[in-house]
Amino acid sequence: MSEISLTSAQTSQDSKPLRIAVLVSGNGSNLQVLIDAMQASALPIEIVGVISNREDAYAITRAKDADIPVAVLSHVVSGKRMGIKTFETHASAQLTEWQPDLIVLAGFMRVLSAPFIDSAPAPMINLHPALLPAYKGLDTHQRAIQAGERHHGCSIHVVTAELDAGAVLSQALLQVNQKDTADSLQARVQKLEHQLLPWTILLIAKEVIALNSQSKETFSMLPTLPLKLYLNS
Ligand code: GRF
Repeated sequence: MSEISLTSAQTSQDSKPLRIAVLVSGNGSNLQVLIDAMQASALPIEIVGVISNREDAYAITRAKDADIPVAVLSHVVSGKRMGIKTFETHASAQLTEWQPDLIVLAGFMRVLSAPFIDSAPAPMINLHPALLPAYKGLDTHQRAIQAGERHHGCSIHVVTAELDAGAVLSQALLQVNQKDTADSLQARVQKLEHQLLPWTILLIAKEVIALNSQSKETFSMLPTLPLKLYLNS
């Protein structure tokens, strides 16, 4: 380990845990990885709250089981779709109350507006199931297979107003097998996500990667970003 990383690890050992708010829409397997790491003291984090935009998201159960405060801001109320502005007004108030140091979008499936992102009380990162800048948006696994990609994976990037276009902090890669389907690829990439997310949050908590919510600039002690990890999948 280099002198720089030793010094950094030592100075931040006594510091307070990174306060994280997690936004979810579905199963919440990535949230579970963070809960497990927090409970095992494997990551210096405190999950201060979870916001779900779906009332049927299993992620809600995971958060409640871990005694983490949950705000369910359902995208459908009495059969009517909740507009993004209403969602964002409630989400903003909730985030302001929780005062996170970092907001993590982990399987969160609503597109957020520029004013919400710009006025967020903490830097925001998103987990995207593709090697950005390739395959922004949806159906990434299917599109990667159709294009005959040899490599695929996932990325963690800073959230900006432009969809999936903020600075890429880290990526995990795998080789696409000839017999991979969109489903098998999704399952393999998800195993990578479960490793990439905690590693990246650890680097943020230790200030190896520093995020600035106001200027949207990132700074890293690492020679280059994104950090590319070859993990088992
Ligand atoms: C992840 O695969 C993520 O890449 C995608 O949504 C999925 C969420 O999974 N955007 P989970 O809810 O964390 O299980």
